[in-house]
Amino acid sequence: MECGIKTLPSILITAGTLLSTSLAAPTPQLLTWDEAYIKAEALVSQMSLEQMVNITTGTKWRRTPCIGNTYSVSEPDFPALCLQDGPLGIRHADNVTAGVAGVTAASSWDKQAIRERGRYMGREFRGKGIHVQLGPSVDIVRAPDAGRNWEGFGEDPYLQGVAGAETVLGIQEEGVVATAKHYVFNNQETNRKASTSNVDERTFHEIYLWPYARMVEAGVGSVMCSYNMIDDIWGCENDYTMNTVLKGELGFRGYIMSDWGATHSTVLSVNSGLDMTMPGDIIMGDDYTYFGSNLTDAVDRGEVTAERVADMTTRIVATYYKMGQDKDFPETAVNFVNRTMALEVFVQADHHKHVRSMGAAGTVLLKNDGVLPLSIDSIDTLALIGSDASDDPNGPNSCVSRGCSNGTLAMGWGSGTADFPYLITPHQGIEAHVGDDVELTYTFWDWDVEEAAEIARQADIALVFSNADSGEEHIIVDGNVGDRNNLSLWHNGDALIEAAAEANENVVVIIHAVSPVLMPWIDNPHVRAVVWSGIPGQESGNSLVDILFGAVNPSGRLPYTIARNEEDYGVLVVNETVIEYTEKLELGYKHFDAHDIEPLFEFGFGLSYTTFEYSEVEVDTEGEGDDIKVTATVEVTNSGDVDGAEIPQAYISFPESAGEPPKHLRGFEKVYLKAGKKSKVTFEFGKTELSIWDSDSHEWVIPSGEFTVHVGASSRDIRDSVSFTVE
Ligand code: BGC
Repeated sequence: MECGIKTLPSILITAGTLLSTSLAAPTPQLLTWDEAYIKAEALVSQMSLEQMVNITTGTKWRRTPCIGNTYSVSEPDFPALCLQDGPLGIRHADNVTAGVAGVTAASSWDKQAIRERGRYMGREFRGKGIHVQLGPSVDIVRAPDAGRNWEGFGEDPYLQGVAGAETVLGIQEEGVVATAKHYVFNNQETNRKASTSNVDERTFHEIYLWPYARMVEAGVGSVMCSYNMIDDIWGCENDYTMNTVLKGELGFRGYIMSDWGATHSTVLSVNSGLDMTMPGDIIMGDDYTYFGSNLTDAVDRGEVTAERVADMTTRIVATYYKMGQDKDFPETAVNFVNRTMALEVFVQADHHKHVRSMGAAGTVLLKNDGVLPLSIDSIDTLALIGSDASDDPNGPNSCVSRGCSNGTLAMGWGSGTADFPYLITPHQGIEAHVGDDVELTYTFWDWDVEEAAEIARQADIALVFSNADSGEEHIIVDGNVGDRNNLSLWHNGDALIEAAAEANENVVVIIHAVSPVLMPWIDNPHVRAVVWSGIPGQESGNSLVDILFGAVNPSGRLPYTIARNEEDYGVLVVNETVIEYTEKLELGYKHFDAHDIEPLFEFGFGLSYTTFEYSEVEVDTEGEGDDIKVTATVEVTNSGDVDGAEIPQAYISFPESAGEPPKHLRGFEKVYLKAGKKSKVTFEFGKTELSIWDSDSHEWVIPSGEFTVHVGASSRDIRDSVSFTVE
């Protein structure tokens, strides 16, 4: 068994590398929007109304190989487009990489690595002949218990914006259309198809629209409108959010597709800005569509103009040209309806290396009294406790779309999943790493706390593993309908940790979780370290080993706030059909700051095996009005004796008259520093970073008065603050 565990990853690595070399695809020739529109207009002008409509209409659920397809047309020719989930990799496919989830990518706070993650996903999607990736998700973590929190990039709009834009750039550089979703206010699963999210204009712009604005600037090709209503109007029928804001204010030139089954009409949807209906049917699985002949009839009746249909089509065709999909585009090699019919194409290459390093980079060290990193030389016996350390006895893909919770958690459930080509569990990773040098003992049965205590008692160090899972509402796991029923650890986790800590003074807790959990045992001195492994994907156990044994110095930072008590959160999932966003701008850490609530672990927090010092922050202001440019600099020194990365963060406080929460993240960088070395870090703030939304003039305005830049190691660990004035 040990032998199998050790050789499994390397066999896969070799196979993937060899096969991928022979696959090397030519780099796609990307066009600007203007260039793409010229080509698209030339093609679409030759099309009949029926042909145009075909390009906007899905071929219906489970009728064609991809999770969504459009119809092809001939003379002039345009191919059927293939759209496939999801935000972390290719769903319903073999020989693909199952990487870290969005939230763990975000917790790396590493722009370059996030871009590279987008690029390897883009290469995989294109390699399989998929035109459109249904991701990234930029649903903000509004409620900590919301089911799809793990798919996106956390609670803060700025972090979501940076991670979203880097992901879009990466995917699209490889010639695949990225889809920003779910537009907008799809922030919980409960009643997602039967509720209205009511949000004021300022909150909409400053929080929920922000990531879309950054992704539109990055050239995102498509946006998916959401299931929910917005102020009582369906997301995919909403003229204000789609026409006025996305296409108008933001100048979005790609196309808007519906979420699956989220189209509710023909005329109202199309005239409100919807460009493509997915998967095509009115109710998934039926024989009808709101587009198709219903759309041509609406044009004949004069309720939709032919120009509007040409606009819809041109947007889709231009996006295809922009990504260089008219040249060297591979044949589609996924088949969601019948997997065995799919062409066998290996696209994994060496992407597992990126997954492993991002899994480690996204790991947040929450507590460490010095017990970590572990050293093989000083341990005789290591206990592994909890099912989250081990595999699902039926295999990592035993439940469709990861809709169960057995063994270690490396992905949530629902459409945001991919099938694991393999899953390195913590047990496998640790066993392969320590070899014969350390005796491993274990219990993976969560319900026998006495056995857990006994195993812990006999070990030098006890590693206790636990998790908390969630996903999409169409799958129910252990009574959780997508959203979590509570914020506690699953599988008796708290009791296991307490039992181990009762029996052994050296307990290290490892948590795989979709979003925050409660940690009632956190102050127990026997719990000497807590490692937050997030949702790490197929290389889980290897990424963990890199952190536990110090090959990688932890540098992950929390992309959300972990509270001491559930009541401390300003927002939780509600079982209502009218969801009022009454917290307005006070979301995540802004709520904790505004109400002076001490979080357990604040947004932006994470420990390292070294220490960093910040020298004085300097601020310089140039220009005025909308051309203002504020530059803040800080010198960061690795003052410890281990090499490592630090993530200096810049928060802005607006003038008091602006009526904003105490501070907003407006910059961060990841800097690698050898022990003893220092580096100067620069943040720049312009109109985007310094504006608030004025709901009277419907514009972004820079308020006048005194601003403050706070630079620090987290949202609560501010090392220096400097003010500047805007006239
Ligand atoms: C989800 C989308 C997904 C689509 C296709 C929907 O239920 O909300 O995120 O892309 O299904 O699977």
